[in-house]
Amino acid sequence: MKNTPLVSQYEIERNREIAENIGRLNNGKNLKYYIESYGCQMNEHDAEKLGGMLINMGYTATEDKNEADIIIFNTCCVREHAELRVFGNIGALKKLKDERPDVIIAVCGCMMQQKSVAEHLYKRYPFVNIVFGTHDIHNFPTFVENALCGDRTLITRNIDGEIPEGLPIRRSGSFSTHVIIMYGCNNFCTYCIVPYVRGRERSRDPQAIIDEVKAVVAQGYTEVTLLGQNVNSYRSSDGQVNFPKLLKMVSEVDGLKRLRFMTSHPKDLSDELIEAMATTNKVCHHIHLPVQSGSNRILKLMNRVYTREKYLETVEKLRSKVKDIEITTDIIVGFPTETDEDFKDTLSLVEQVGYSAAYTFMYSPRKGTRAAEMDDQIPQEVKKQRLKELNDLEASILQKNNLKFIGMKGEVLVEGCDKREGNTMAFGKLSNFKMVYFPGSEDLIGKYLNVEVTDTHHNSLIGKMIEE
Ligand code: SAH
Ligand code: SF4
Ligand code: F3S
Repeated sequence: MKNTPLVSQYEIERNREIAENIGRLNNGKNLKYYIESYGCQMNEHDAEKLGGMLINMGYTATEDKNEADIIIFNTCCVREHAELRVFGNIGALKKLKDERPDVIIAVCGCMMQQKSVAEHLYKRYPFVNIVFGTHDIHNFPTFVENALCGDRTLITRNIDGEIPEGLPIRRSGSFSTHVIIMYGCNNFCTYCIVPYVRGRERSRDPQAIIDEVKAVVAQGYTEVTLLGQNVNSYRSSDGQVNFPKLLKMVSEVDGLKRLRFMTSHPKDLSDELIEAMATTNKVCHHIHLPVQSGSNRILKLMNRVYTREKYLETVEKLRSKVKDIEITTDIIVGFPTETDEDFKDTLSLVEQVGYSAAYTFMYSPRKGTRAAEMDDQIPQEVKKQRLKELNDLEASILQKNNLKFIGMKGEVLVEGCDKREGNTMAFGKLSNFKMVYFPGSEDLIGKYLNVEVTDTHHNSLIGKMIEE
């Protein structure tokens, strides 16, 4: 083992004390914090941990950065677009900092785990107080303490291999929440920066996961999504618990109604997992199964380790075993060397599978990844054209496929209420992840209700409440 887990555990304890001390100092001052996250659910979960620590330090959340005493930008670097947005938004804080010099500005997240980027940002924006990477979230109270004393912080450590446990979490949402089961990624898909900024795969102890699920259920959450970059490779340190076993164990938590998970890498989606999905009552009948491309040549260059045929076989198996399962995906267009033929293979795969949602991206070269060094990068114009073609196809397939839901009855967890146009429409997701809008009021939020689908509307469905 490279590091002893005690390092971060010791740091967590120390930081808890620092947070409490700051909390005593801040008592009665009505201080506020504002966090903006730019990335995936993992990134948003990090923000929830920062929120938990900030509450211990005496700050409360605000949605308005103009009244915040601490402003945090939690960055993502998976595509260039996410990075450009951050730079622009940080630059715009200069004015705010000139007017209110006491405001603490912090920048963290995956982008800041890249040493050279963090250093560049630290130099370019002298008004930023704190810059730290993904391995140092638990040390945040120390950085705030430094800032309160007038010192700046720049840190991009790598303490890979450790799992910080026991951080306070301020969860957003009231009924549905995320629980991390593993950190990092070992897959090194050639286009992807995540393994470089999130470190190697490390799985949490099953008991820690179950304890966290029990705790969130006790707080009133009834739907839990288990999170990891590749949940299929979850394995407890003694090798006894794999992902299908974990799903079964977690589903036994009393009071939990629904269990979801993401993301599954198609290369190691096992029969055992399909069986667990089919037979474990609380596990929802939806899977996010990123395909990335429909061309075997491109899949190979991407290092995805499956073929189009193998992927389609997995889809068939899922559909034959897990009743009414819906499949969603991620797709990249314009990977280096992608020809019209390769792209056509992607289009035909999308048609063949019939996804209920596809998150589509133009390939964005990431410095340090293998694909960024490949010859024959695709011109931006071609990428744009392909993205449009793919999105148009997906939209038309979706429109057609949504018709099959008309007349279907199912249970939704009500997430919110839309009051546009004088109508009050409640909305919530079915087990299969499809969103249904139906006439209903705010007091339904958080409830599980039976609905019948009566119509479709773009990506979502329209329905009405029915008796059980
Ligand atoms: N671990 C998850 C996804 C992580 S990133 C998985 O393996 O599925 C989310 C999505 O961003 C990926 O599925 C991919 O479609 C997209 N993505 C990652 N790197 C990208 C890049 N360099 N350019 C464009 N899209 C990218
Ligand atoms: Fe990136 Fe691939 Fe890991 Fe997903 S599995 S995070 S796409 S390297
Ligand atoms: Fe997520 Fe972006 Fe990091 S997608 S893991 S926040 S690079």
